[in-house]
Amino acid sequence: MKVKSIILAAGEGKRMKSDTPKVLHRLCGRTLIEWAIGGVSSVDANPVVVVGHGRDAIMKALGDKGVTFAVQAEQKGTGHAVMMARHEVEAADCILVTCGDMPLIRPETVKKLVECITVANQDAAVLYTVAEDPTGYGRIVRDEYGGIKGIVEHRDATAEQRAIREINTSSYCFNKDLLLFALDRLECNNAQKEYYLTDAISIIANMGGKVAGVQGEAEEGMGINDRAQLAEASAVLRGRINREHMLSGVTIIDPETTYINYGVQIGRDTIIYPGNVLEAGTAIGEACKLYPNSRIYKSIIGNRVDITSSVITETTIGDDCHVGPFAYTRPGSRIGNDIKIGDFVEIKNSNIGDGTKISHLTYVGDADVGRNVNLGCGVVFVNYDGRRKYRTVVEDNAFIGCNTNLVAPVKVGRRGYTAAGSTITQDVPEDTLAIARSRQTNKEGWVSKRREGEEK
Ligand code: UD1
Ligand code: CA
Repeated sequence: MKVKSIILAAGEGKRMKSDTPKVLHRLCGRTLIEWAIGGVSSVDANPVVVVGHGRDAIMKALGDKGVTFAVQAEQKGTGHAVMMARHEVEAADCILVTCGDMPLIRPETVKKLVECITVANQDAAVLYTVAEDPTGYGRIVRDEYGGIKGIVEHRDATAEQRAIREINTSSYCFNKDLLLFALDRLECNNAQKEYYLTDAISIIANMGGKVAGVQGEAEEGMGINDRAQLAEASAVLRGRINREHMLSGVTIIDPETTYINYGVQIGRDTIIYPGNVLEAGTAIGEACKLYPNSRIYKSIIGNRVDITSSVITETTIGDDCHVGPFAYTRPGSRIGNDIKIGDFVEIKNSNIGDGTKISHLTYVGDADVGRNVNLGCGVVFVNYDGRRKYRTVVEDNAFIGCNTNLVAPVKVGRRGYTAAGSTITQDVPEDTLAIARSRQTNKEGWVSKRREGEEK
């Protein structure tokens, strides 16, 4: 059976109070709509997304995600939204419908819903949850034998129906022919004057179709309408992500204060202390120690690396390195193995060779630094003249004395040495000491002579 899925995302999302369309808000590094696409990926890798409000931004954001779009220019209800996608799904046998704003529905649950049609031969299936407070949701209405008869919206429900705690999650699966049959019969004589997709269920039940219910976990029924719910759902997803890492061998000392985005990879025996934020595109090796309070973004970190209170962005770091506290590595930093990057060191668009030490208070910008180099305290790579940026080369085993300025473009050869406090503007050949500062003069007795004058 060919399964096709439709994700509804044309609504406005007024309660977000945002210039960004609701489904482009992010949870754990992924937009709401990406969570929805991920949710159906186990049954359909190329869903149809129904867009309306903010469609240009949504279509742009999903440009490379392999989805098809159907436009619902005017929002006349969830049933109407599915009608707009009709032509995209007619070739399938089984149609899954989900919403773009329900990020907690698990792929396993979606699979079960679909199997009601593809395996258990039902005509329709509804994913429902049992809510503590069902206010606002559609209620599942059953007959005296427990079969599902229909769904009634909160606004259209009687007092008796409002007491029902089984709620519609707005995820369904249908036999295609029956869905199309029901869509042709939807009417908008309800409180919102909309075409409700929920009515497709009662239409199918009334004609004697078999309607199954799949019960999800309570949290799966949570939709995102405002930013408080966005934070609540983020916390649930964060908990799931952290748990997965812990079960695959990562120690997370305090999961409540550890923020790992979707898709981040972490090797076993790595230990993560509180306050770390690991963002999209990051991979951390094995047996690393992430001490408190770092942000690591789009970076690849090797094995046995420790990082403390630092910001690491678009950087690669090899094995056995020490980073921080308070280091900042910026895009294009490629740091080899067995390297120390100490406190208040900033590195940008530079290659750092194995065994090099950059221990404190140093700026390395646009440089190629070789192996086993020592950069003293307070070294500045002067890479910018106000108009252009230039590169600096420091070759293997060089020693750059404290408080050296290397004014680019400039090169220090192998085993080159700069005296502390030098401002280096010319290349330093191999094996050479460069001193570029004025010679010291000592004026003996100068201090007491001056004091004598003052004390009278
Ligand atoms: C809907 C269900 C309700 C269910 C609830 C779960 C209906 C009639 N009601 O109500 O039973 O308990 O979801 O969250 O279906 N959308 C469109 N086009 C439209 C209208 C909506 O694409 O014309 C999309 C929205 O962007 C959203 C989804 O459909 O992703 C649900 O719409 P929403 O207005 O939030 O439905 P609810 O009133 O919450
Ligand atoms: Ca609504």
